Amino acid sequence: MKIAIAGTGYVGLVAGVCFADKGYNVTCVDIDEKKVAMMKEGISPIFEEGLEELMKKNNAAGTLHFTTDYREAYRLADAIFIGVGTPELPDGSANLSYIAGVSRQIAETIEKDCLVVVKSTVPVGTNDKVEQFIKDFLVNDVKVEVASNPEFLAQGTAVHDTIHAARIIIGTESKEAEEMLLKIYEPFGIPIVSVKRRSAEMIKYACNDFLALKISYMNDIANLCELVGADITDVAEGMRYDERIGSRFLNAGIGFGGSCFPKDIEALINTGRQFGYESELLQSVIDVNARQKRILAENLKRVNCFNHPYQTTVCTHGNSPFGL
Ligand SMILES: NC(=O)c1ccc[n+]([C@@H]2O[C@H](COP(=O)([O-])OP(=O)(O)OC[C@H]3O[C@@H](n4cnc5c(N)ncnc54)[C@H](O)[C@@H]3O)[C@@H](O)[C@H]2O)c1
Repeated sequence: MKIAIAGTGYVGLVAGVCFADKGYNVTCVDIDEKKVAMMKEGISPIFEEGLEELMKKNNAAGTLHFTTDYREAYRLADAIFIGVGTPELPDGSANLSYIAGVSRQIAETIEKDCLVVVKSTVPVGTNDKVEQFIKDFLVNDVKVEVASNPEFLAQGTAVHDTIHAARIIIGTESKEAEEMLLKIYEPFGIPIVSVKRRSAEMIKYACNDFLALKISYMNDIANLCELVGADITDVAEGMRYDERIGSRFLNAGIGFGGSCFPKDIEALINTGRQFGYESELLQSVIDVNARQKRILAENLKRVNCFNHPYQTTVCTHGNSPFGL
């Protein structure tokens, strides 16, 4: 089976390397010439444990290729996985211009029936649009279908998360597409949850936003702990043994950031608005997160003041009966 990967960021590169390691003939495409030149030499542009070893091994075995020439990569591919970025636009919605760019390239180059698989995180309904868009611009008389296959890896443990994923989500609208994805993932031996495309797209946001919600919740509880004299570390320890809650994402601190949580919450809020739904819960996850950064900055200032022997009075808190 010939697989092409569009985009060699964390998602595309790790997927491509792991597919090659399972014996597929994989060509990874990127528009970044420098990156492609490095990868051809077996050098990974990102540090992920085990990734470079797998790249070198599969480069040498002849199953893994890197190129900027998308025509050559997509022309005769059986499946093309899209892993390009979907960054946040100023209004909170996802920027789908990279997805559209790849879709156009696919439409103009494929010469045989092909399954296009969207791995990037995209708002619900995007797969439908991608399929229509590709069909509108198809140059050759071939059959194309789009499937959703959201990615759940975490940066830093990306290879492990791919090879030992808790589950693989596939979203398809036909038996043929479902069977092809089941076959592609068979060698991984991981449970597969097979649903419709829109459900698969939603699962990704529901998971990411739930983890962000957990973080905001713990920060809220931490602020209450400080007021009532409880220790948030002890409280979290007591919570993590409860399997209904789960042991991870219970650390209070500065709040969440990074490339995924903030944009994925904004994107889901935005999707809701497009359908006339205002998610008050998701909005408060963002509000608590923003407030947390302000609280920590204020606490830092206060600690600095208390450390200064002549400035303690400046830092008193009006709501304490002792003025401290
Ligand atoms: N990084 C993560 O931890 C993570 C985890 C799960 C899901 N995701 C999602 O996966 C998607 C990709 O994330 P990422 O972090 O791997 O992105 P990234 O921005 O690191 O990489 C995207 C790559 O795509 C390339 N690209 C852009 N246009 C292209 C084109 N037309 N053809 C070929 N390559 C092209 C870029 O040069 C870049 O190298 C996003 O939607 C993200 O939300 C990311």
